[in-house]
Amino acid sequence: MNTKTVEELLKHDTTLQDVSVKGWVKTFRANRFIALNDGSTINNIQCVVDFESFEESLLKRISTGAAIHVIGELVESQGKGQRLEIQVKELEVLGDSDPETYPIQPKKHSFEFLRENAHLRTRTNTFSAVMRLRSALSFAIHKYFTENGFYNMHTPIVTGSDAEGAGEMFRVSTLDAKNPPLNENGDVDYTKDFFGKETNLTVSGQLEAETYAMSLGKVYTFGPTFRAENSNTSRHLAEFWMIEPEVAFMDLDGNMDLAEDFLKSVLNYVLEHNKEDLEFLEKRLLDEEKTKPQAERSDMSLIEKLRFVVDNNFKRVSYTEAIDILRNSKPNKKKKFKYLINEWGADLQSEHERYLVEKHFKCPVILFDYPANIKAFYMRLNEDGKTVRAMDILFPGIGEMVGGSQREERLDVLVEKMKALDIPEEELWWYLDLRKYGTAVHSGFGLGFERLVMFATGMSNIRDVIPYPRTPQNAEF
Ligand code: 4AD
Ligand code: MG
Repeated sequence: MNTKTVEELLKHDTTLQDVSVKGWVKTFRANRFIALNDGSTINNIQCVVDFESFEESLLKRISTGAAIHVIGELVESQGKGQRLEIQVKELEVLGDSDPETYPIQPKKHSFEFLRENAHLRTRTNTFSAVMRLRSALSFAIHKYFTENGFYNMHTPIVTGSDAEGAGEMFRVSTLDAKNPPLNENGDVDYTKDFFGKETNLTVSGQLEAETYAMSLGKVYTFGPTFRAENSNTSRHLAEFWMIEPEVAFMDLDGNMDLAEDFLKSVLNYVLEHNKEDLEFLEKRLLDEEKTKPQAERSDMSLIEKLRFVVDNNFKRVSYTEAIDILRNSKPNKKKKFKYLINEWGADLQSEHERYLVEKHFKCPVILFDYPANIKAFYMRLNEDGKTVRAMDILFPGIGEMVGGSQREERLDVLVEKMKALDIPEEELWWYLDLRKYGTAVHSGFGLGFERLVMFATGMSNIRDVIPYPRTPQNAEF
């Protein structure tokens, strides 16, 4: 007899004689009704035991969290609340779960508590739904790029260059931290280190992706990314996953079109394929919002928000226009912003991004043409000599979802920029080579995968959409 998943069983439209299913007990009610879940769906299958046919000692072991194997008959349910149920004929406890100590009881647990029990939190409805959605989004991303002629590229995780120039990197070294070799100047001598030079965990695969775009045409990376920024916010991780497409012969307008089409496509995929999980998370979010003051509640449900993004055009606004809007905004005039916007050139903080998206435009916004000096070195300089062809995509409730740009393809302009920023040419000689041999307009962007999962699931803390979050002072599990 072939063991089926709960999802397969619940989809059946006929009754079945002999079915076998394995899973974990959610609840055991009235010594008769087992709610069983195996992770294949948000729904449990009800398994009905006739307590007279089983040893009491066996039934005692049917407690929340126990792994069991059930064999029985799939029949139409006599009770309310489910269409089908299993009349249990054989029952085996595969793994006991001591009710005195099992942390995940059938009651509401705080997310903080569940983070401390992250190894068991996917036994809850919320986290199993979030992680199924995470998996579906990952698949949808690979599907989108594959169907649109992109090649998947694995960029290195250990690197010698700081792609973003922000210096927020984790060092990779095998030197003895207590007693490192020193050079004549008394500095650590990295030529003696494993790679013969200073190396770090990557902050972005972009620079390497550019090299492949300039031969394979359309490529994308989807890999782990590391940032040692000490920002303990609900939107930052020290280890996160980033999707970075890079396309030859594509300018910034093409980049915006690609990013918008891509985001709509992957969100549409989960709307079509993950309905039950989304409906569950939508209810969860509604309950959470009931505990908030009216003004902070969203006027759209989770699924409405996803539909809205899929069905409406993103608003495209230049940095200069955005500054005008912000300068004249109520919170700026009433000095409600922590950082007041006084002049062109100011870097936008998340309070400003959220104002633009949530209060002013009320839809996803693509901001473009930022001042050169607040953006990375590789972005293409505009004719005005002071802005670059950068774009950030801002989402309601999230802030920055995507950061991208058209790349500087002119060798002389790039070299000058690197000089001004003290970026050593000899470190990026290969990057400069691209501008020497067959250079061309090209563009790309980076999407923070966890921020996308946050948006799609309605979860408000990034720690709750990645299996084992790495944040300052925390690398448990
Ligand atoms: O804007 P960022 O820093 O852009 C880059 O790294 C470019 N090299 C991308 C490119 O053009 N290929 O990061 C891209 C995205 C952000 O918009 C954000 O969604 C996410 O990565 N991100 C983070 N997500 C979680 N935790 C962090 N600490 C993040 N830092 C950036
Ligand atoms: Mg950015």
